[in-house]
Amino acid sequence: MKHLVTGGAGFIGSNYIFYLLKKYPNDEIVCLDKLTYAGNLSTLESVLDLPNFKFVKGDICDRDLVYKLVEEEMPDVIVNFAAESHVDRSIEDPSLFLNTNIVGTSVLMDAARKYGIKRFHQVSTDEVYGDLPLDRPDLLFHEDTPLHTSSPYSSSKAGADLLVMAYHRTFGLPVTISRCSNNYGPYQFPEKLIPLMIAKALNDEKLPVYGDGANVRDWLYVEDHCEAIDLICRKGKVGEVYNVGGHNERNNLTIVKLILKELGKSEDLITFVVDRKGHDRRYAIDPTKIHNELGWLPKTSFENGIKETIKWYLDNKDWWKTIMSGEYQNYYQKMYLDKGRV
Ligand code: NAD
Ligand code: DAU
Repeated sequence: MKHLVTGGAGFIGSNYIFYLLKKYPNDEIVCLDKLTYAGNLSTLESVLDLPNFKFVKGDICDRDLVYKLVEEEMPDVIVNFAAESHVDRSIEDPSLFLNTNIVGTSVLMDAARKYGIKRFHQVSTDEVYGDLPLDRPDLLFHEDTPLHTSSPYSSSKAGADLLVMAYHRTFGLPVTISRCSNNYGPYQFPEKLIPLMIAKALNDEKLPVYGDGANVRDWLYVEDHCEAIDLICRKGKVGEVYNVGGHNERNNLTIVKLILKELGKSEDLITFVVDRKGHDRRYAIDPTKIHNELGWLPKTSFENGIKETIKWYLDNKDWWKTIMSGEYQNYYQKMYLDKGRV
């Protein structure tokens, strides 16, 4: 099987490439990535020279480039991970999110239509469903829960999802969508909660917890997400949405305290800072459909996954320190220091 993986130099995309190459060593993979601040080619170093792997630097919004690539490669499947993915950045600059996440998705689908690609898979998010109240643990997101977004990021992802379903209905494009909860694991950019808190704790810096720290996320180990996407691409029903999550709800403060405990650091490092605008209170996925139809279940417990993840960041300090010494610092200045969040 030949895969065109967009956004493969980012967190989940790179893990997906490693997952595929381990499970199907003879599959071919073409990775298209613009290498934005979030894309790190060094992550893919171990596969760059494989004969069945090819990296192409380019923008999914670049129609000429995308058409040429799809025509030349004729992949069996296009899996679209490429996106602007950080909610805080979307609050600073929505337009970039609309362009990459919506326009970019439409360009990829136009190419898929033009060259008759047999499957287009859109990697979406549980954030398209909005949020749930903290006092109603009985409520979960189902595939037919109405889209009800809070941030420019989630709105752009919901816009893309609507477009994907429209291309299926209008043009008969063979599409699938997965909507996953919060991922954690190796190679996550240290702007997201878990890697940021690990890095800061290791540097004995203050850990900025937004608002009251009671917001709940439903955490899934990245490899479990990769397995779900692979299953959907091979066995999922065209035109269907699959929720992906592992019933693993934790509030932010619990996560931060756990990280500090694992690293032997003091809870005094925790600092409560100004809340994120429009901050979603709780996410919780019902993964019954993917379990019943495709037999998927997460394999990694949170207890093991978080230990593995902390160990990975300890063993790979160079990976995140290099990032943090570069553009990340400008970002940190703009998002935290200038705003007086720390
Ligand atoms: P990430 O920010 O780590 O990586 C995004 C990648 O896309 C980067 O390599 C970046 O260079 C690339 N990219 C950005 N704009 C591009 C463009 N215009 N053209 C080509 N490449 C471009 O993101 P992630 O956390 O790995 O998320 C991947 C996908 O999964 C996103 O679509 C996101 O919405 C979705 N998702 C993420 C999570 C999560 O918890 N991280 C959960 C559910 C869904
Ligand atoms: O639910 C899936 C989504 O999960 C994905 O679609 C997004 O791409 C991904 O970024 C993630 O979004 P979140 O906003 O949930 O992730 P983030 O790591 O930014 O924040 C997790 C929680 O932690 C959230 O409630 C905000 C809080 N937070 C985050 C940061 C970066 C803090 O309290 N302090 C911080 O410094």
